[in-house]
Amino acid sequence: MNTFRKDFLWGGATAANQYEGAWDADGKGPSVSDMCTNGSHTTPKRVTPVFEEETLYPSREATDFYHHYKEDIALFAEMGFKVFRLSIAWTRIFPTGMEKEPNEAGLAFYDKVFDECKKNGIEPLVTISHYEMPYALVEKCNGWEGRECVDYYMKYCQTIFERYKNKVKYWLTFNEINAGTMPMGNVLSLGTIKGYSGPINQVPDKPQVRFQALHHQFVASAKAVKLAHEKYPQFKMGNMSLFATMYPFTCSPDDMVETQKQMQMTNWFCSDIQVRGAYPYYAARYFEENGIKIKMEPEDEDILKEGTVDFYTFSYYMSNCVSTNSEKAKSSGNLMGGVKNPYLKSSDWGWQIDPKGLRYTLNEIYGRYGIPLMVVENGLGAYDKLEEDGSIHDDYRIDYLREHILQMKEAVKDGVDLMGYTPWGCIDLVSASTGEMAKRYGFIYVDKYDDGTGDLERRKKDSFTWYQNVIKTNGEEL
Ligand code: BG6
Repeated sequence: MNTFRKDFLWGGATAANQYEGAWDADGKGPSVSDMCTNGSHTTPKRVTPVFEEETLYPSREATDFYHHYKEDIALFAEMGFKVFRLSIAWTRIFPTGMEKEPNEAGLAFYDKVFDECKKNGIEPLVTISHYEMPYALVEKCNGWEGRECVDYYMKYCQTIFERYKNKVKYWLTFNEINAGTMPMGNVLSLGTIKGYSGPINQVPDKPQVRFQALHHQFVASAKAVKLAHEKYPQFKMGNMSLFATMYPFTCSPDDMVETQKQMQMTNWFCSDIQVRGAYPYYAARYFEENGIKIKMEPEDEDILKEGTVDFYTFSYYMSNCVSTNSEKAKSSGNLMGGVKNPYLKSSDWGWQIDPKGLRYTLNEIYGRYGIPLMVVENGLGAYDKLEEDGSIHDDYRIDYLREHILQMKEAVKDGVDLMGYTPWGCIDLVSASTGEMAKRYGFIYVDKYDDGTGDLERRKKDSFTWYQNVIKTNGEEL
């Protein structure tokens, strides 16, 4: 019976905007995330085009990887990480996105990070753009609505590919690119918020603009993959989708069809393009019914065809139900909600916990594409209690991860080709949806709180030792 590969990539995942801090150090420019205030489970965070003196912008200091990278990478190595997913902050390399020359200090920082990974036997997995678009590009061209972003992104890719060609092998073009299929994607993913000030979930949504912006990301992603394949054959290029698995609430044909439709446009649409190289057949009807007309350049179809990815990666936190009956109780979720599933429990933030859904999802994806898969985000955002002796007993997190790893193992037995697993926020960092510190995912606790206080000291949670043993036994002891 199949089990995890010998070279299975165990590790953890982070993103610069939620982890690095040092938002204006050594020439870095502001990103969209740097312009977001804190929020909570009940109060949405806001994006403000101008800094408000008295307001907290949590990404700005975050948990300060910038000044703790050696210590943190040593802790990851102690856990036995084979891979560390991080993103490069575009604004550290090109502060406005539009400079002719890159910022050498920014490039030098990632040299140090990758060297430190190498020293510790850890392979970096780099997300090129993870909710870190230069804010200057929002002002210049309404974010990805502007076609010129493709060229700015390519310049950034050329720079980092060339600089890190001997240090980085695995690349993901855009984090959760399918966020752009939902109104929530306007802020962090697409930057289509020129002049907007307010809660991130209340941006006036224009599907035409959103899907045009998304088209530009598809072209940019495919061009980056094409460049890598032509010039850097040692690179492995991946997509990254937010997978929000959906079940029909009932077996009524209406619920079935509605679920299929939503699965197509939220979960499959982007990866169908990135893996198969063309817009899928069902998009035409969706565009027609939603008044969307994509403006394409003559070369775009070829670019999409020539820039398909080598492996498929996704985030998986939860599942949801779909019903055509609007009376059903709602659940919260990662960028989107759905209908509550009576068979599932939820996290403190209302995200439904569904380990078996991960096995189901892995099979669905692998059955559709047949290329290697990697789960690059998964985890439980929870309140942790720091005991007086400095310990953190996070058995609830261990339970969550254990159940998900067990189901990954089942999927591998089913025959799915799974390359690796990088649980989200392997060290505590700022929440993307709410801007909170209280929503923690890490194996490592960071002394940092929602009011901005904390001395940033790192402490091992119980899950640290547990995960260390999981890696040591290649997932045999859970
Ligand atoms: C994914 C993002 O949506 O989920 C991460 O790629 C994010 O950036 C993670 O942090 C967890 O979401 P949240 O809102 O709990 O931080």
